[in-house]
Amino acid sequence: MRSIRFRQIALASWASLALASSLAACGGEAGDKDGVEAPPSEAPIVRPASVEELSLELSAQELPEGLVSGGLLVASDVALGVAAGGEGGLFVQGAGGLERVDEAPVSGLVAIEGVGFLVGGQGGLKIWDGALKDTTLDEALAGASVTALATRGAEVWIGTEDGLLVFDGASLLAFEGLGGASAIHAFEGSTDVLLVGVEGALSVLRQEGQGWSLHGLDGEPVQVALPGAGGRILGLDEGALVERVSVSPEAAAWRAVALSEDAGDTGAAGIEAMAVDPSSGAVWVVSAEAIARLEGGAVAVGERPEGLGGVDRAQVTGDGALWLSDGVTLWSAGGQAEVVGFEDRVAGFGEDNCARCHGDGGVAHVMVSYEQWVAEAEQIVDELESGRMPADGRPLVGGGAELVRRWIEGGFAP
Ligand code: HEC
Repeated sequence: MRSIRFRQIALASWASLALASSLAACGGEAGDKDGVEAPPSEAPIVRPASVEELSLELSAQELPEGLVSGGLLVASDVALGVAAGGEGGLFVQGAGGLERVDEAPVSGLVAIEGVGFLVGGQGGLKIWDGALKDTTLDEALAGASVTALATRGAEVWIGTEDGLLVFDGASLLAFEGLGGASAIHAFEGSTDVLLVGVEGALSVLRQEGQGWSLHGLDGEPVQVALPGAGGRILGLDEGALVERVSVSPEAAAWRAVALSEDAGDTGAAGIEAMAVDPSSGAVWVVSAEAIARLEGGAVAVGERPEGLGGVDRAQVTGDGALWLSDGVTLWSAGGQAEVVGFEDRVAGFGEDNCARCHGDGGVAHVMVSYEQWVAEAEQIVDELESGRMPADGRPLVGGGAELVRRWIEGGFAP
Protein backbone atom coordinates (compact mmCIF):
# COMPACT_ATOMS: atom_id res chain seq x y z
CA MET A 1 0.00 0.00 0.00
CA ARG A 2 1.16 3.50 -0.60
CA SER A 3 -0.09 6.95 -0.01
CA ILE A 4 -1.66 8.77 -2.87
CA ARG A 5 -0.99 12.36 -3.71
CA PHE A 6 -3.58 14.48 -5.30
CA ARG A 7 -3.97 18.01 -6.35
CA GLN A 8 -6.91 20.28 -6.71
CA ILE A 9 -7.60 21.62 -10.15
CA ALA A 10 -9.27 24.97 -10.58
CA LEU A 11 -12.31 24.51 -12.73
CA ALA A 12 -13.23 27.11 -15.29
CA SER A 13 -16.88 26.34 -14.92
CA TRP A 14 -19.05 23.34 -15.03
CA ALA A 15 -21.71 25.30 -13.34
CA SER A 16 -24.40 23.83 -15.54
CA LEU A 17 -23.84 20.64 -13.56
CA ALA A 18 -25.42 21.68 -10.32
CA LEU A 19 -24.22 18.83 -8.18
CA ALA A 20 -24.24 19.14 -4.43
CA SER A 21 -20.81 19.48 -2.93
CA SER A 22 -19.68 16.95 -0.39
CA LEU A 23 -16.05 16.03 -0.80
CA ALA A 24 -13.73 17.00 2.00
CA ALA A 25 -10.52 18.64 0.90
CA CYS A 26 -7.74 16.18 1.51
CA GLY A 27 -4.04 15.52 1.56
CA GLY A 28 -2.16 12.27 1.01
CA GLU A 29 -1.18 10.13 3.94
CA ALA A 30 0.97 7.07 4.32
CA GLY A 31 -0.01 3.71 5.78
CA ASP A 32 1.31 0.17 6.08
CA LYS A 33 0.91 -2.61 3.63
CA ASP A 34 -1.82 -5.07 4.36
CA GLY A 35 -0.40 -8.56 4.48
CA VAL A 36 -2.67 -11.31 3.24
CA GLU A 37 -2.73 -14.50 5.21
CA ALA A 38 -3.58 -17.84 3.76
CA PRO A 39 -6.82 -18.71 5.53
CA PRO A 40 -6.44 -21.41 8.18
CA SER A 41 -7.75 -24.73 6.92
CA GLU A 42 -10.91 -24.36 8.97
CA ALA A 43 -11.49 -20.69 8.40
CA PRO A 44 -14.78 -19.51 9.80
CA ILE A 45 -17.50 -18.93 7.28
CA VAL A 46 -19.22 -15.57 7.15
CA ARG A 47 -22.90 -16.33 7.79
CA PRO A 48 -25.87 -14.01 7.41
CA ALA A 49 -27.53 -12.55 10.50
CA SER A 50 -30.91 -12.99 8.83
CA VAL A 51 -32.28 -14.48 5.63
CA GLU A 52 -35.48 -13.40 4.01
CA GLU A 53 -37.24 -14.26 0.81
CA LEU A 54 -36.86 -11.93 -2.11
CA SER A 55 -39.54 -11.72 -4.73
CA LEU A 56 -38.19 -10.33 -7.94
CA GLU A 57 -40.34 -9.29 -10.82
CA LEU A 58 -38.06 -9.14 -13.78
CA SER A 59 -39.00 -7.58 -17.05
CA ALA A 60 -37.08 -8.43 -20.20
CA GLN A 61 -36.21 -6.64 -23.40
CA GLU A 62 -34.11 -7.69 -26.32
CA LEU A 63 -30.62 -6.22 -26.34
CA PRO A 64 -30.34 -4.08 -29.44
CA GLU A 65 -27.70 -5.00 -31.96
CA GLY A 66 -24.54 -3.10 -31.11
CA LEU A 67 -24.78 -3.45 -27.35
CA VAL A 68 -22.08 -5.98 -26.76
CA SER A 69 -23.17 -7.17 -23.39
CA GLY A 70 -19.70 -7.77 -21.96
CA GLY A 71 -19.07 -4.04 -21.91
CA LEU A 72 -22.71 -3.11 -21.40
CA LEU A 73 -23.36 -0.09 -19.19
CA VAL A 74 -26.80 1.00 -17.99
CA ALA A 75 -27.90 4.21 -16.29
CA SER A 76 -31.38 4.97 -15.11
CA ASP A 77 -33.07 7.77 -13.24
CA VAL A 78 -36.64 8.65 -12.29
CA ALA A 79 -36.64 11.85 -14.30
CA LEU A 80 -34.24 10.93 -17.10
CA GLY A 81 -35.38 7.42 -17.93
CA VAL A 82 -33.00 4.70 -19.07
CA ALA A 83 -29.84 4.84 -21.18
CA ALA A 84 -27.39 2.12 -22.14
CA GLY A 85 -24.01 2.20 -23.73
CA GLY A 86 -21.21 0.01 -24.98
CA GLU A 87 -18.98 -0.64 -27.96
CA GLY A 88 -21.91 0.03 -30.25
CA GLY A 89 -22.62 3.53 -28.99
CA LEU A 90 -25.17 5.28 -26.81
CA PHE A 91 -28.77 4.06 -26.59
CA VAL A 92 -31.75 5.72 -24.94
CA GLN A 93 -35.00 4.02 -24.00
CA GLY A 94 -37.79 5.13 -26.29
CA ALA A 95 -41.25 3.79 -26.99
CA GLY A 96 -39.80 1.00 -29.10
CA GLY A 97 -37.07 -0.05 -26.66
CA LEU A 98 -33.44 1.04 -26.54
CA GLU A 99 -32.68 3.20 -29.57
CA ARG A 100 -29.24 4.27 -30.71
CA VAL A 101 -28.65 8.02 -30.45
CA ASP A 102 -24.88 8.10 -31.01
CA GLU A 103 -22.38 5.70 -32.53
CA ALA A 104 -19.23 6.57 -30.60
CA PRO A 105 -18.28 3.72 -28.21
CA VAL A 106 -19.22 4.40 -24.59
CA SER A 107 -16.92 3.37 -21.74
CA GLY A 108 -18.60 5.22 -18.87
CA LEU A 109 -22.25 6.10 -18.24
CA VAL A 110 -23.94 7.54 -15.14
CA ALA A 111 -27.14 9.47 -14.49
CA ILE A 112 -26.75 12.88 -12.84
CA GLU A 113 -30.02 13.87 -11.26
CA GLY A 114 -31.49 17.04 -12.68
CA VAL A 115 -28.77 17.28 -15.34
CA GLY A 116 -28.64 14.35 -17.72
CA PHE A 117 -26.63 11.25 -18.51
CA LEU A 118 -22.90 11.75 -18.29
CA VAL A 119 -21.29 9.80 -21.14
CA GLY A 120 -17.58 8.99 -21.28
CA GLY A 121 -15.54 7.66 -24.17
CA GLN A 122 -12.67 8.38 -26.52
CA GLY A 123 -14.02 11.85 -27.13
CA GLY A 124 -13.94 12.73 -23.43
CA LEU A 125 -17.04 13.59 -21.41
CA LYS A 126 -20.40 14.58 -22.84
CA ILE A 127 -23.88 15.06 -21.44
CA TRP A 128 -27.04 13.62 -22.93
CA ASP A 129 -30.19 15.52 -21.98
CA GLY A 130 -32.12 14.94 -25.16
CA ALA A 131 -29.09 15.82 -27.27
CA LEU A 132 -25.41 15.09 -26.81
CA LYS A 133 -23.61 18.17 -25.50
CA ASP A 134 -20.05 19.10 -24.60
CA THR A 135 -19.14 19.78 -20.98
CA THR A 136 -16.68 22.35 -19.78
CA LEU A 137 -15.27 19.70 -17.46
CA ASP A 138 -13.83 18.20 -20.59
CA GLU A 139 -11.20 20.93 -20.61
CA ALA A 140 -9.74 19.56 -17.40
CA LEU A 141 -9.32 16.19 -19.09
CA ALA A 142 -7.05 17.81 -21.67
CA GLY A 143 -8.13 15.49 -24.43
CA ALA A 144 -7.72 12.24 -22.48
CA SER A 145 -10.17 9.41 -23.19
CA VAL A 146 -12.58 8.49 -20.43
CA THR A 147 -12.21 4.84 -19.48
CA ALA A 148 -14.78 4.55 -16.64
CA LEU A 149 -17.35 6.57 -14.67
CA ALA A 150 -18.99 6.03 -11.29
CA THR A 151 -20.85 8.03 -8.66
CA ARG A 152 -20.27 8.14 -4.92
CA GLY A 153 -23.16 10.15 -3.57
CA ALA A 154 -22.97 13.55 -5.24
CA GLU A 155 -19.44 12.94 -6.51
CA VAL A 156 -18.65 11.79 -10.02
CA TRP A 157 -15.54 9.65 -10.36
CA ILE A 158 -13.88 9.85 -13.74
CA GLY A 159 -11.26 7.34 -14.87
CA THR A 160 -9.17 8.45 -17.82
CA GLU A 161 -6.26 6.86 -19.66
CA ASP A 162 -3.84 8.84 -17.52
CA GLY A 163 -5.59 9.79 -14.31
CA LEU A 164 -8.41 9.46 -11.86
CA LEU A 165 -10.53 12.53 -11.17
CA VAL A 166 -13.28 13.27 -8.68
CA PHE A 167 -15.77 16.03 -9.37
CA ASP A 168 -17.91 17.10 -6.42
CA GLY A 169 -19.99 19.70 -8.16
CA ALA A 170 -17.69 22.56 -7.30
CA SER A 171 -14.12 21.39 -7.62
CA LEU A 172 -12.13 18.66 -9.20
CA LEU A 173 -9.58 16.47 -7.47
CA ALA A 174 -6.99 14.50 -9.40
CA PHE A 175 -5.30 11.40 -8.03
CA GLU A 176 -1.88 11.21 -9.55
CA GLY A 177 -0.75 8.16 -11.45
CA LEU A 178 -4.00 6.19 -11.27
CA GLY A 179 -4.86 6.10 -14.94
CA GLY A 180 -6.50 3.42 -17.00
CA ALA A 181 -9.36 2.25 -14.77
CA SER A 182 -11.70 0.03 -16.76
CA ALA A 183 -14.26 0.10 -13.94
CA ILE A 184 -14.77 2.03 -10.70
CA HIS A 185 -17.02 0.61 -7.96
CA ALA A 186 -18.31 2.80 -5.15
CA PHE A 187 -21.53 3.73 -3.41
CA GLU A 188 -22.88 6.68 -1.46
CA GLY A 189 -20.92 6.81 1.78
CA SER A 190 -18.39 4.09 0.89
CA THR A 191 -14.91 4.72 2.25
CA ASP A 192 -13.51 2.13 -0.16
CA VAL A 193 -13.50 2.63 -3.90
CA LEU A 194 -12.61 -0.47 -5.93
CA LEU A 195 -10.59 0.20 -9.06
CA VAL A 196 -10.28 -2.30 -11.89
CA GLY A 197 -7.39 -2.03 -14.29
CA VAL A 198 -5.23 0.47 -12.41
CA GLU A 199 -1.68 -0.80 -11.77
CA GLY A 200 -2.59 -4.40 -12.36
CA ALA A 201 -5.93 -6.01 -11.85
CA LEU A 202 -7.70 -4.83 -8.71
CA SER A 203 -7.00 -2.22 -6.09
CA VAL A 204 -8.78 -0.55 -3.22
CA LEU A 205 -8.57 3.20 -2.82
CA ARG A 206 -9.38 3.81 0.83
CA GLN A 207 -10.43 7.07 2.44
CA GLU A 208 -8.75 7.37 5.82
CA GLY A 209 -9.65 10.57 7.61
CA GLN A 210 -8.58 13.36 5.31
CA GLY A 211 -6.31 11.19 3.20
CA TRP A 212 -6.48 8.34 0.73
CA SER A 213 -4.33 5.24 0.38
CA LEU A 214 -4.07 2.57 -2.28
CA HIS A 215 -4.10 -1.15 -1.47
CA GLY A 216 -3.23 -3.44 -4.37
CA LEU A 217 -5.12 -6.75 -4.37
CA ASP A 218 -2.63 -8.44 -6.67
CA GLY A 219 -1.56 -11.73 -5.18
CA GLU A 220 -4.93 -12.08 -3.46
CA PRO A 221 -7.20 -14.88 -4.62
CA VAL A 222 -10.00 -12.83 -6.20
CA GLN A 223 -10.85 -11.93 -9.76
CA VAL A 224 -13.70 -9.57 -8.87
CA ALA A 225 -14.16 -7.35 -5.80
CA LEU A 226 -16.73 -4.76 -4.73
CA PRO A 227 -17.24 -2.51 -1.73
CA GLY A 228 -20.45 -3.18 0.20
CA ALA A 229 -22.52 -1.62 2.96
CA GLY A 230 -21.01 -1.88 6.42
CA GLY A 231 -17.43 -1.48 5.19
CA ARG A 232 -17.39 -4.91 3.57
CA ILE A 233 -15.32 -5.93 0.60
CA LEU A 234 -16.88 -8.87 -1.20
CA GLY A 235 -15.20 -10.75 -4.01
CA LEU A 236 -15.27 -13.80 -6.21
CA ASP A 237 -12.61 -16.50 -6.07
CA GLU A 238 -13.28 -18.76 -9.06
CA GLY A 239 -16.99 -18.10 -8.63
CA ALA A 240 -17.01 -18.65 -4.85
CA LEU A 241 -18.32 -15.69 -2.83
CA VAL A 242 -15.69 -14.44 -0.37
CA GLU A 243 -15.25 -11.51 1.99
CA ARG A 244 -12.05 -9.72 2.89
CA VAL A 245 -11.73 -9.76 6.66
CA SER A 246 -9.03 -8.16 8.80
CA VAL A 247 -7.39 -10.81 10.94
CA SER A 248 -4.91 -8.39 12.53
CA PRO A 249 -4.10 -4.72 12.04
CA GLU A 250 -1.73 -5.65 9.22
CA ALA A 251 -3.26 -8.77 7.75
CA ALA A 252 -6.41 -9.69 5.92
CA ALA A 253 -7.88 -12.99 4.80
CA TRP A 254 -10.67 -13.92 2.42
CA ARG A 255 -13.47 -15.92 4.05
CA ALA A 256 -16.21 -17.91 2.35
CA VAL A 257 -19.63 -16.24 2.55
CA ALA A 258 -22.79 -18.29 3.03
CA LEU A 259 -26.19 -17.09 1.81
CA SER A 260 -28.16 -19.32 4.18
CA GLU A 261 -28.25 -19.92 7.92
CA ASP A 262 -27.78 -23.63 7.32
CA ALA A 263 -24.86 -24.83 9.50
CA GLY A 264 -23.73 -27.18 6.73
CA ASP A 265 -23.47 -24.39 4.17
CA THR A 266 -19.79 -23.95 3.31
CA GLY A 267 -20.31 -20.82 1.24
CA ALA A 268 -21.93 -19.69 -1.98
CA ALA A 269 -20.30 -20.93 -5.17
CA GLY A 270 -20.98 -20.76 -8.88
CA ILE A 271 -21.59 -17.01 -8.79
CA GLU A 272 -21.87 -15.68 -12.35
CA ALA A 273 -21.97 -11.96 -11.67
CA MET A 274 -22.19 -9.42 -8.86
CA ALA A 275 -22.91 -5.72 -8.56
CA VAL A 276 -23.14 -3.04 -5.88
CA ASP A 277 -26.11 -0.69 -5.46
CA PRO A 278 -24.59 2.81 -5.73
CA SER A 279 -27.19 4.24 -3.34
CA SER A 280 -27.40 1.70 -0.53
CA GLY A 281 -24.21 -0.35 -0.85
CA ALA A 282 -26.26 -3.56 -1.06
CA VAL A 283 -24.37 -6.20 -3.04
CA TRP A 284 -26.31 -8.40 -5.48
CA VAL A 285 -25.04 -11.78 -6.58
CA VAL A 286 -26.39 -14.09 -9.26
CA SER A 287 -25.72 -17.81 -8.94
CA ALA A 288 -26.94 -20.76 -10.96
CA GLU A 289 -29.91 -21.20 -8.60
CA ALA A 290 -30.63 -17.85 -7.04
CA ILE A 291 -30.37 -14.10 -7.01
CA ALA A 292 -29.40 -12.68 -3.62
CA ARG A 293 -28.98 -9.26 -2.07
CA LEU A 294 -26.56 -8.77 0.83
CA GLU A 295 -26.99 -5.64 2.91
CA GLY A 296 -25.11 -5.49 6.16
CA GLY A 297 -25.71 -8.89 7.77
CA ALA A 298 -29.10 -9.30 6.10
CA VAL A 299 -29.45 -11.54 3.08
CA ALA A 300 -32.50 -11.71 0.81
CA VAL A 301 -32.68 -14.62 -1.60
CA GLY A 302 -34.99 -15.06 -4.57
CA GLU A 303 -35.39 -17.63 -7.26
CA ARG A 304 -33.48 -17.20 -10.46
CA PRO A 305 -36.03 -16.40 -13.14
CA GLU A 306 -36.78 -18.93 -15.81
CA GLY A 307 -35.39 -18.09 -19.20
CA LEU A 308 -32.41 -16.17 -17.85
CA GLY A 309 -29.29 -17.47 -19.60
CA GLY A 310 -25.75 -17.35 -18.23
CA VAL A 311 -25.35 -13.84 -16.81
CA ASP A 312 -22.29 -12.06 -18.14
CA ARG A 313 -23.09 -8.68 -16.64
CA ALA A 314 -24.93 -7.41 -13.57
CA GLN A 315 -25.40 -3.78 -12.66
CA VAL A 316 -27.44 -1.79 -10.16
CA THR A 317 -28.35 1.77 -11.12
CA GLY A 318 -28.76 4.74 -8.79
CA ASP A 319 -32.53 4.27 -8.68
CA GLY A 320 -32.06 0.80 -7.18
CA ALA A 321 -32.90 -1.16 -10.34
CA LEU A 322 -31.05 -4.42 -10.95
CA TRP A 323 -29.97 -5.05 -14.56
CA LEU A 324 -28.81 -8.41 -15.84
CA SER A 325 -27.63 -9.32 -19.28
CA ASP A 326 -27.26 -12.80 -20.71
CA GLY A 327 -25.95 -11.52 -24.01
CA VAL A 328 -29.33 -11.70 -25.76
CA THR A 329 -31.77 -10.16 -23.30
CA LEU A 330 -31.56 -7.27 -20.87
CA TRP A 331 -33.46 -8.07 -17.68
CA SER A 332 -34.41 -5.53 -15.06
CA ALA A 333 -36.13 -5.50 -11.70
CA GLY A 334 -37.28 -2.56 -9.60
CA GLY A 335 -35.95 0.93 -10.01
CA GLN A 336 -37.47 3.95 -11.63
CA ALA A 337 -40.61 2.14 -12.75
CA GLU A 338 -41.32 1.38 -9.11
CA VAL A 339 -43.47 4.11 -7.54
CA VAL A 340 -42.59 4.98 -3.96
CA GLY A 341 -45.82 5.06 -1.91
CA PHE A 342 -46.36 6.55 1.55
CA GLU A 343 -47.95 3.46 3.08
CA ASP A 344 -45.51 1.06 1.42
CA ARG A 345 -42.22 2.79 2.03
CA VAL A 346 -42.26 6.27 3.54
CA ALA A 347 -44.41 5.63 6.64
CA GLY A 348 -42.23 2.68 7.61
CA PHE A 349 -39.10 4.74 7.04
CA GLY A 350 -40.51 7.43 9.37
CA GLU A 351 -41.51 4.84 11.93
CA ASP A 352 -37.98 3.36 11.99
CA ASN A 353 -36.02 6.60 11.91
CA CYS A 354 -38.06 9.57 13.05
CA ALA A 355 -40.99 8.49 15.25
CA ARG A 356 -38.83 8.08 18.37
CA CYS A 357 -38.81 11.89 18.48
CA HIS A 358 -41.49 12.95 16.00
CA GLY A 359 -44.13 10.51 17.25
CA ASP A 360 -46.89 11.33 19.75
CA GLY A 361 -45.32 12.51 23.00
CA GLY A 362 -41.84 12.76 21.48
CA VAL A 363 -39.37 15.62 22.00
CA ALA A 364 -40.06 17.14 18.56
CA HIS A 365 -43.20 18.17 16.69
CA VAL A 366 -45.48 15.36 15.59
CA MET A 367 -44.83 14.22 12.04
CA VAL A 368 -46.50 10.90 11.37
CA SER A 369 -49.43 11.26 9.00
CA TYR A 370 -49.43 11.41 5.21
CA GLU A 371 -50.60 15.05 5.36
CA GLN A 372 -47.83 16.05 7.77
CA TRP A 373 -45.18 14.42 5.58
CA VAL A 374 -46.55 16.07 2.42
CA ALA A 375 -46.53 19.50 4.11
CA GLU A 376 -42.91 19.13 5.20
CA ALA A 377 -41.55 17.01 2.35
CA GLU A 378 -39.00 19.46 0.95
CA GLN A 379 -37.79 20.35 4.43
CA ILE A 380 -37.44 16.66 5.26
CA VAL A 381 -35.22 16.05 2.21
CA ASP A 382 -33.16 19.05 3.27
CA GLU A 383 -32.76 17.82 6.84
CA LEU A 384 -31.76 14.35 5.62
CA GLU A 385 -29.29 15.59 3.02
CA SER A 386 -27.61 17.92 5.47
CA GLY A 387 -27.41 15.15 8.05
CA ARG A 388 -29.20 17.33 10.64
CA MET A 389 -31.84 14.64 11.04
CA PRO A 390 -32.12 12.23 12.74
CA ALA A 391 -30.99 14.63 15.47
CA ASP A 392 -29.40 11.82 17.52
CA GLY A 393 -27.20 10.86 14.56
CA ARG A 394 -28.33 7.25 14.54
CA PRO A 395 -27.71 5.59 11.15
CA LEU A 396 -30.76 5.58 8.89
CA VAL A 397 -32.41 2.27 8.15
CA GLY A 398 -34.36 1.39 5.03
CA GLY A 399 -33.69 4.51 2.98
CA GLY A 400 -32.68 8.15 3.09
CA ALA A 401 -33.19 11.44 1.27
CA GLU A 402 -33.36 9.60 -2.05
CA LEU A 403 -36.42 7.63 -0.93
CA VAL A 404 -38.30 10.78 0.10
CA ARG A 405 -37.25 12.57 -3.07
CA ARG A 406 -38.54 9.72 -5.21
CA TRP A 407 -41.81 9.85 -3.30
CA ILE A 408 -42.09 13.60 -4.01
CA GLU A 409 -41.17 13.14 -7.68
CA GLY A 410 -43.70 10.35 -8.01
CA GLY A 411 -46.42 12.80 -6.97
CA PHE A 412 -46.76 11.91 -3.27
CA ALA A 413 -48.34 8.49 -3.89
CA PRO A 414 -50.40 7.58 -0.80
C1 HEC B 1 -33.44 12.28 18.48
C2 HEC B 1 -34.63 12.99 18.15
C3 HEC B 1 -34.97 13.21 16.69
C4 HEC B 1 -35.01 12.28 15.69
C5 HEC B 1 -34.72 10.80 15.76
C6 HEC B 1 -35.45 13.00 14.51
N1 HEC B 1 -35.65 14.30 14.79
FE1 HEC B 1 -36.28 15.78 13.52
N2 HEC B 1 -36.18 17.14 14.99
C7 HEC B 1 -35.82 16.90 16.29
C8 HEC B 1 -35.89 18.13 17.06
C9 HEC B 1 -35.58 18.25 18.52
C10 HEC B 1 -36.28 19.14 16.15
C11 HEC B 1 -36.49 20.63 16.43
C12 HEC B 1 -37.84 20.85 17.09
C13 HEC B 1 -38.98 20.63 16.15
O1 HEC B 1 -38.97 21.15 15.03
O2 HEC B 1 -39.92 19.92 16.54
C14 HEC B 1 -36.46 18.48 14.85
C15 HEC B 1 -36.85 19.13 13.71
C16 HEC B 1 -37.11 18.53 12.51
C17 HEC B 1 -37.60 19.21 11.34
C18 HEC B 1 -37.91 20.66 11.24
C19 HEC B 1 -36.64 21.45 10.96
C20 HEC B 1 -36.86 22.92 10.83
O3 HEC B 1 -35.87 23.61 10.84
O4 HEC B 1 -38.01 23.35 10.71
C21 HEC B 1 -37.72 18.27 10.36
C22 HEC B 1 -38.20 18.49 8.92
C23 HEC B 1 -37.31 17.00 10.92
N3 HEC B 1 -36.94 17.19 12.23
C24 HEC B 1 -37.27 15.82 10.23
C25 HEC B 1 -36.88 14.61 10.78
C26 HEC B 1 -36.88 13.36 10.05
C27 HEC B 1 -37.31 13.19 8.59
C28 HEC B 1 -36.44 12.42 10.91
C29 HEC B 1 -36.23 10.95 10.63
C30 HEC B 1 -35.43 10.59 9.49
C31 HEC B 1 -36.13 13.05 12.18
N4 HEC B 1 -36.43 14.39 12.06
C32 HEC B 1 -35.63 12.40 13.28
C33 HEC B 1 -35.47 15.67 16.83
C34 HEC B 1 -35.37 14.47 16.12
